[in-house]
Amino acid sequence: ELGAFTHYMEKEIFEQPMALENAMRGRFSDDESTSKFGGLNLDAREFRHVDRIVFLACGTAWHACLVAEYLIEKYARIPVEVEYASEFRYRNAPLDKNTLVFVISQSGETLDTLEALREAKRKGYRVLGITNGVGSTIARETDGGVYQHAGPEIGVASTKAFTSQVLIGGMLALHLGRMRDLSFSDGREMVKAFRSLPGLVSQVLGQAEQIKEIASRYTDYEDFLFLGRQSMFPIALEGALKLKEISYIHAEGYPAAEMKHGPIALISEKCPSVVLSPHGDTFSKVLSNIQETRARKGRVIAITSAGKDFPEEGADDVIHIPHAHDCVMPILATIPLQLLAYYIAVNRECDVDKPRNLAKSVTVE
Ligand code: F6R
Repeated sequence: ELGAFTHYMEKEIFEQPMALENAMRGRFSDDESTSKFGGLNLDAREFRHVDRIVFLACGTAWHACLVAEYLIEKYARIPVEVEYASEFRYRNAPLDKNTLVFVISQSGETLDTLEALREAKRKGYRVLGITNGVGSTIARETDGGVYQHAGPEIGVASTKAFTSQVLIGGMLALHLGRMRDLSFSDGREMVKAFRSLPGLVSQVLGQAEQIKEIASRYTDYEDFLFLGRQSMFPIALEGALKLKEISYIHAEGYPAAEMKHGPIALISEKCPSVVLSPHGDTFSKVLSNIQETRARKGRVIAITSAGKDFPEEGADDVIHIPHAHDCVMPILATIPLQLLAYYIAVNRECDVDKPRNLAKSVTVE
């Protein structure tokens, strides 16, 4: 079943163009320049009444929620809150009657997420889900939702399920945005960007050999920082989680600007940083973070946009991702981080598909 691949994680990383294609199939309308979902069970009038969205999830799925927060607030201008399912359940959060609750779960069986969903439903909130597990408990108990159609994910570290959740979050931002102030032409640009995504992801996957070579120079470190701003911040968290789960290297994700408020103390020749620095509003700020890191002897792997002016010699290693619409950049930036974590873990002879102490789906509290 593995075919030419050594591990399921590797196979699933390379399946991403197809998983993304499957998440989009039949879900765009060119006439209306929007996305559409069959199973939300909410009509436009009901959606218009939503004035706040709360996302609940755990682990990698929680990172996908954070990206959805950026995208929905940016394109649909609806306030979004993201909470760990396990915290929501015991917090007794005050929610307004026009709040819509969303849970995200690859397996659809994570106990903390399931119990958070039950708690929200018990209080009378409408709860929708984004799940990959067809017919899973969460899929059955939500009032409606979106299936990811990413196919089975066997590697314990989530890869294709994460990018497909982020994509669906972006498509929801488009859907909700087009019911509000997002124009026809802005919607059309987003549809175009989403459709181009499988091809762009394939381009990044085409750089796997180069990323493997970079990984070989970072195998022996025991600490890593991952930095990014705006929608790249959750991707920094996800990159750090992937690395720690499968290689057992200590890694932390931070918003790049927070570095000076503490983490900068960690930087030395023993602690490299992976810095998400695609072209955009905060590009020059992130560049200064890179300089500050290197001035303290910290090695830097920069992920930046191809064809844009990243300074020559600006980082120790540079990985280029295509420059595309903002709504797809978080997905493009994820791919090199997955590959880096994978190759570093393989070099360290770790059991990539079954990391110690972890299970694919966490059905205990
Ligand atoms: C990390 C990972 C976990 C899961 C988390 C939630 O790679 O896989 O952090 O994301 O346990 O699982 P689901 O999405 O099945 O609810």
